[in-house]
Amino acid sequence: MMTRWLSAIVAGLLAVSSCVQSEAPAIEGDLARDYFTFANTDQVVTEHLALELTVDFAAEQLYGSVTLNLKRIDLAAKNVILDTRDLTIESASFRSGSGAPIVASYAFGETDAIMGTPLIVAVPEELYSASSVALKINYRTSPDSTALQWLPPSLTAGGKQPFLFSQSQAIHARSWIPLQDTPAIRITYEAVIHTPPELLAVMSATNDPAADRDGTYEFVMPQPIPAYLLAIAVGDIEFSAIGSQTGIYAEPDVLEAAAYEFADTQAMLDTAEELFGPYQWGRYDLLILPPSFPYGGMENPRLSFLTPSLLAGDRSLVSVVAHELAHSWSGNLVTNATWRDGWLNEGFTNYLELRLMEVIYSEARAAEDNVLGYRDLLLDFEWLAPKFQALAPRLETGDPDYFQGSVHYNKGSLFLQYLENAFGRDLFDAFLSSYFDDFAFQTITSENFLDYLDEKLLSAHPNAVSRAQAEQWIYEPGLPDDALIPVSTTLDQAAAMATAWSRGEIGVEDIPVADWSPQAMVHFINSLDTNLPEARLGVLDAAFSLSDTRNAIVGRAWFIQVAQRRYLPVYDKLEQHLNRFGRIWLIHPVYKALAENGVDLELAREMFERAREHYHPLTINRIESVL
Ligand code: BES
Ligand code: ZN
Repeated sequence: MMTRWLSAIVAGLLAVSSCVQSEAPAIEGDLARDYFTFANTDQVVTEHLALELTVDFAAEQLYGSVTLNLKRIDLAAKNVILDTRDLTIESASFRSGSGAPIVASYAFGETDAIMGTPLIVAVPEELYSASSVALKINYRTSPDSTALQWLPPSLTAGGKQPFLFSQSQAIHARSWIPLQDTPAIRITYEAVIHTPPELLAVMSATNDPAADRDGTYEFVMPQPIPAYLLAIAVGDIEFSAIGSQTGIYAEPDVLEAAAYEFADTQAMLDTAEELFGPYQWGRYDLLILPPSFPYGGMENPRLSFLTPSLLAGDRSLVSVVAHELAHSWSGNLVTNATWRDGWLNEGFTNYLELRLMEVIYSEARAAEDNVLGYRDLLLDFEWLAPKFQALAPRLETGDPDYFQGSVHYNKGSLFLQYLENAFGRDLFDAFLSSYFDDFAFQTITSENFLDYLDEKLLSAHPNAVSRAQAEQWIYEPGLPDDALIPVSTTLDQAAAMATAWSRGEIGVEDIPVADWSPQAMVHFINSLDTNLPEARLGVLDAAFSLSDTRNAIVGRAWFIQVAQRRYLPVYDKLEQHLNRFGRIWLIHPVYKALAENGVDLELAREMFERAREHYHPLTINRIESVL
């Protein structure tokens, strides 16, 4: 008996290591393959997942069980290979229908630094012919889980209760649940979560704002989602409704500010439904995380997670909400099949975000965001190898969290803007709605998109855009010559002012900052002459209080300059900026500028050591890579 189990497991291990180490050149058929999972999804697929977990703040662990309802496509396959990272597995058992559980043998495969460790579970002989089985695994997470951040009370707004949150995208769900961690597989889920009774748990699922706070919370996600959208947060969280279908979850101290800042969320949702088709997820709520949240936002279904750095007091940074909401169509409804196809999520979402910003606010405001994104894209083209400048390159190794800078977002968005312009808005909007409808709750590759585009637009309306042109966007580096270059008159004016002031042609009093959005101020700061003496920064700071700005994106642009030009008088303020938020995008370029200014690498390392304990594991990883 034992020997057979072992040989099954060894066979599984061999299969796993050969797929990881394969260096053969990718063939056409491999374009749809997800290189960032160990799971044998061609043999068995998960359809539903049930969690029962206890949140242990003292041990910084989740423990309990997951039950995976599996469909065995290939009955000859005797192993189920799951993705894990730093998980302790306590036991595994299978059952079929209402049969008794059967204990299963399991073993770990070889650990990969980025992918984690395959868990190979052997199907018991009694179930070899069963096409539907339930696999229950008892397990616990590690305090080092890359998806989870366990915050002591001191790092929360209220300062009295601890806080826990997850960030599963791209491949971190496996560090809190053993599962098939690939966007190619969609699952429904349910969960029972046990917490200390004074805390509330929320998930990317049905949340009941009126639920009794008793430490047991139940969730259901009836729509099938990819694993990277599994999410949980636990803390001293309260709810405030802001619209008929929308509301805010946040710590009590930030609830009111957030309800003010994001008051337009319901209008965004209504507009999105008019433009892109029905919202398929029921409620849409926002969760405001503690300052260490590593991203601007994360589109966890029904409950987007947001950084508190958006709370500028003037609603100037709400394009991130438009973005996460738009993912309810691009990403959550129609999902990239692999991380190589990430532009189908992020490029589409950037485009939809601009469309929402235009309707809710103004064309001028959308144009400002578009130009800032275009600038990021040009900067990324300067360092990205040509291969990585394609929207859908062959990505077989590396870390999917870091692929391609802004190519997926901004080049992807420019491609859709190009198509919109070529076919006209009416046709293109009809195309978009049918795309979301036809592929709803499916995962697709860039090639599936290309074929669909060809069928619905390119071939149906010849002479506008050829298939070769579309392929150039998707497979070639840089931008096609006929790409539409974003323009913003307000940002152009800010850039002209930066040049004139840098050259001494005008004084600070001539700069109309009172009329400017924070985005215009960012563009002004970005457009200062490269050889401006550092002392001149003091003049700007005195006039516009940049070192004390409440606006996080202005602070980001400013402290990059401060670090690049070594404007020492405000290095203490710079360090405060690095400690205020752990959002990677806000602080990573400041560390990088310090590390690369020729003098301050050691200082940057010291600042990082002082800030480090506040940061999320993903932020720590990312900053370490530049220091
Ligand atoms: N889904 C992303 C965040 C993400 C991407 C997490 C890749 C892990 C891997 C989210 O929708 C996003 O794009 N957030 C942006 C905001 C946006 C307005 C550009 C962010 O966090 O800055
Ligand atoms: Zn996004």
